[in-house]
Amino acid sequence: MHDAPEHYTATAKWLHWLMAGIWIGAWVLGFSAVHWHAINEDHQITFWHKAIASTLLFLIVLRVAWRLTHPAPALPGNLSPLMRKAAHHGHMVLYAVALLALPISGWLWSSVVGRPIMVLGLFQLPPLTGEHGGVAPYVKLFHTYVAWACGALVAGHGLIALKHHFIDRDGVLKGMLPGRRQA
Ligand code: HEM
Ligand code: HEM
Repeated sequence: MHDAPEHYTATAKWLHWLMAGIWIGAWVLGFSAVHWHAINEDHQITFWHKAIASTLLFLIVLRVAWRLTHPAPALPGNLSPLMRKAAHHGHMVLYAVALLALPISGWLWSSVVGRPIMVLGLFQLPPLTGEHGGVAPYVKLFHTYVAWACGALVAGHGLIALKHHFIDRDGVLKGMLPGRRQA
């Protein structure tokens, strides 16, 4: 057994699980909107996909500000330097691509086709650009491919967390679970 790592702050845990829930929900809604026509004839699923996913654009600002002022806990001491680097870079990609570039590409897509985004159904997100129908297919392709690539990345991230917990039996997953105060 090695020393248990320290834990994320309660705020970091709240932000992680809130955004994880929104992210997975948004993914399922986006997928259903496109591939399950029978339930999206009136575009309500598309509406809620955009309404829920767009909240990530606000939460990420809070999350990055918190993260920059509250460092992550140490990784288990037995991880090789290569695995430490991989974990760090993997998390950076999750922030930059899954939580930032992906919602921004959805925002850009709605902007170039001139469709509104109603954040949580409450207020409209201002468009990033005017209408540019010509670039819409490229933005759509980018959003779709990045969404699928990030789906694989997030699935891998979740599986690695479970591997740490059930196979390596270290404190990595516990460090992100509720009910434990920061050391
Ligand atoms: C402001 C944020 C976002 C906007 C405005 C947006 C917009 C859209 C739109 C308009 C569609 C097509 C829906 C349809 O044709 O009915 C779509 C598809 C999709 N979106 Fe988003 N999106 C956003 C964020 C996200 C995020 C954060 C994720 C991932 C969690 C995501 C994952 C997907 C997926 C998986 C699809 C289906 C792709 C396919 O297989 O064709 N989107 N999005
Ligand atoms: C599938 C369920 C999920 C599980 C079990 C999980 C688990 C974890 C764990 C245990 C950590 C801490 C890793 C460490 O201390 O080295 C972590 C960090 C992180 N997770 Fe997740 N996660 C999940 C979903 C997500 C989702 C959907 C996203 C965003 C798309 C996400 C983004 C992140 C990021 C960016 C970090 C790095 C935090 C930091 O150090 O600032 N996670 N996750």
